[in-house]
Amino acid sequence: MIVLGLETSCDETAAAVLRGRADGGADVLAHIVLSQLAEHQDYAGVVPEIAARAHLQNLDPVIRRTMQEAGVALTELDGIAATGGPGLIGGLLVGVMTAKGMAAALDRPFLAINHLEAHALLPRLTDGVQYPYLLLLVSGGHCLLAEVEGLGRCRVLGSTIDDAVGEAFDKVAKMLGLGYPGGPAVERHAADGDAERFAFPRPMAKRAGCDFSFAGLKTAVRTAIENLPPGPVSQRDIADLCASFQAAVGDVLVDRCRNALLTCRDRSTANRVKGSLTDSKVVTALVVAGGVAANSTLRNRLESLSGECELPLVAPPPELCTDNAVMVAWAGLERFRHGDRTPLDFRPRPRWPLDTLAPPARIPEAAA
Ligand code: KG4
Ligand code: ZN
Repeated sequence: MIVLGLETSCDETAAAVLRGRADGGADVLAHIVLSQLAEHQDYAGVVPEIAARAHLQNLDPVIRRTMQEAGVALTELDGIAATGGPGLIGGLLVGVMTAKGMAAALDRPFLAINHLEAHALLPRLTDGVQYPYLLLLVSGGHCLLAEVEGLGRCRVLGSTIDDAVGEAFDKVAKMLGLGYPGGPAVERHAADGDAERFAFPRPMAKRAGCDFSFAGLKTAVRTAIENLPPGPVSQRDIADLCASFQAAVGDVLVDRCRNALLTCRDRSTANRVKGSLTDSKVVTALVVAGGVAANSTLRNRLESLSGECELPLVAPPPELCTDNAVMVAWAGLERFRHGDRTPLDFRPRPRWPLDTLAPPARIPEAAA
């Protein structure tokens, strides 16, 4: 089965072609991600109107190039999948309408893919992870912990009550004039910094549950900058601020993941060993995905936690951690394999919570 996937939910125009293998995996025949960084850089954030216009302009050529690189003719496609939400409505419309048009013209099935499920399922392609696993999804728009039990079966254990963690990285970078996107710049500067110089708060840490909050941490960084001696912020101050901020984020992520692992264990273990994590093998792995998963310091922190729990830590390759269409094509392939398809009257969804998804549904031919 050969599937084309399209991703246009934010500021990346992406297409990918995957060919399913008999062993349940798939080969990536080609994938292209065209970033709109230059278009949004002046605004230090994504401007929805600009994003939608750029998708409209770029999607057709990106699809054409991806098909050429894959060496696959349109008529060889067995299905077309596009991100149907959550995301910016302008971009979603461009991707979904393109996919529907291709599906109708080629007489092939169409699938609207949930962007969060696409991030969640990718480690099954890259690392062959088995259900159930614990997913920490940390990106510019999302920050959540979920137990992934199967297709359309994600139990959300916690999410952010204010900013996403990537958003916090971007805002700190903006305060320090480090450009956009901020995550990689903050990580670079943090490498030379003293992580203990600024005692930033660890919001939500030590609290029950698995929710996140980053607004207070962001404000603390702002206050620390305001309290520096007058004049330009020195390279030393920037490095120490970034390192202290990143250390606080690391502590919060580890604390929340620890609670999530305990929650998974407590639900399925009759014999509860209070405070011990080694029983948490009820999940097969701790998976970290989303743009922030590219951060190696945070990955190291999570590596220590997973070692403590005797669970593998799985992080997809960095270029597949940020938004891409491989994950959309893969989620599509997994669902197509189960006979799933989306009716052509599907409307893109700016909001589409992960725990409202359903397992694959076979739509009768006549209705599809
Ligand atoms: O998954 P992604 O490409 O898009 C969303 O769905 O949001 O994630 C982008 C986010 C941005 O906020 C960016 O600053 C952050 O991921 N990011 C990082 C790093 N690389 C990207 N944050 C921290 N450290 C990094 N190395
Ligand atoms: Zn994403």
